[in-house]
Amino acid sequence: MSSSDPAATLRVVQMLTAYWRAQAIYVAAKLRVSDHLRDGPLPADELALRCDSDPSTLTRLMRALAGEGFFHEDLEGRFSLGPLGGCLDSGNPASAYATAIMLGEEHFAAWGQLLESVRDGQPAFQKVYHQEVFAYYREHTESGDVFHRAMGELSRSTHRAAVAAYDFAGFQHVVDVGGGRGELLSAILATQEHLRGTLYEQAAVIPQAEALFHQRGLDSRVSTVAGDFFQSVPPGGDCYVLSTVIHDWTDEDSIRILRNVRKAVRGKATLLLLERVLKEPNQPDFGRFSDLNMLVMTGGRERTQDQFATLYQEAGFQLTRVIRTASTSCIIEGRPR
Ligand SMILES: C[S@@+](CC[C@H](N)C(=O)[O-])C[C@H]1O[C@@H](n2cnc3c(N)ncnc32)[C@H](O)[C@@H]1O
Repeated sequence: MSSSDPAATLRVVQMLTAYWRAQAIYVAAKLRVSDHLRDGPLPADELALRCDSDPSTLTRLMRALAGEGFFHEDLEGRFSLGPLGGCLDSGNPASAYATAIMLGEEHFAAWGQLLESVRDGQPAFQKVYHQEVFAYYREHTESGDVFHRAMGELSRSTHRAAVAAYDFAGFQHVVDVGGGRGELLSAILATQEHLRGTLYEQAAVIPQAEALFHQRGLDSRVSTVAGDFFQSVPPGGDCYVLSTVIHDWTDEDSIRILRNVRKAVRGKATLLLLERVLKEPNQPDFGRFSDLNMLVMTGGRERTQDQFATLYQEAGFQLTRVIRTASTSCIIEGRPR
């Protein structure tokens, strides 16, 4: 395919307009269209009333997304859920509802400034919102809740694949650093009756994690610790897990976090990062776009195996293995040097 080939141009135009589709999906999620259609089809007028929208423009949105499999329009002009419609249902814990809101709002605004980030190497998020992303989510609690819920949605399959790919039987006490709402730690503890866990997180996230542990019947096996991993990390674990934490940070910050893990480690312990490992250049790699997302949102980056090995070295660990999982993330195992 050459650059003068009309098929090549068409392909590029499809890539360029990809955000039209993404924003349309976001708006449908925001209006909770799928929630309103959960109990069956509705005429456009009734749906518009429930979604607080203009009937004719909502119909245009619905028709665009019906062609993508989210909704279906019948001959009487009633809309129902299509095969993908349930993925935007806010009441469905397995949906991508929070992910659609998160990506359609702050992420979309920040990506609008990608040019600036590429020019000066600084996260675009800070140019748009005038603060660092985690501070923003702490202050804007509604957006913060959406972010943590979206992390749960996005990492569910990654966590499941990680737990299936790694044997935790030899450990006694797993510390999940920056463990979010506790999804991964719960999944790890579910594999082994004898395991205890500690979830270490920012104070604002702890109540959500405690609610999940309670719901999963894990109260007696888990403790939660609120804190800042730039200051310290709780001691006492023989396995330290950081899942999609290190990619949020520059090399300098990542080494600070990992050195605090190293200080917390007494004797033998295992460090496990759950992260994307970048492929060799010139291959299609979603990780390379996730790398740009880290640039835009946090100033962090995705890394190659060699780059992880260097971080480990600098922080007092040795990279021992990289274990592929059924998801796009890998387990990067290390031990104290
Ligand atoms: C990308 S999320 C990953 C969450 C979770 N580990 C997962 O796999 O879904 C990064 C997490 O780091 C936490 N975090 C950010 N800054 C932190 C800090 N200074 N100390 C402790 N946790 C922090 C955030 O609250 C967030 O839950």
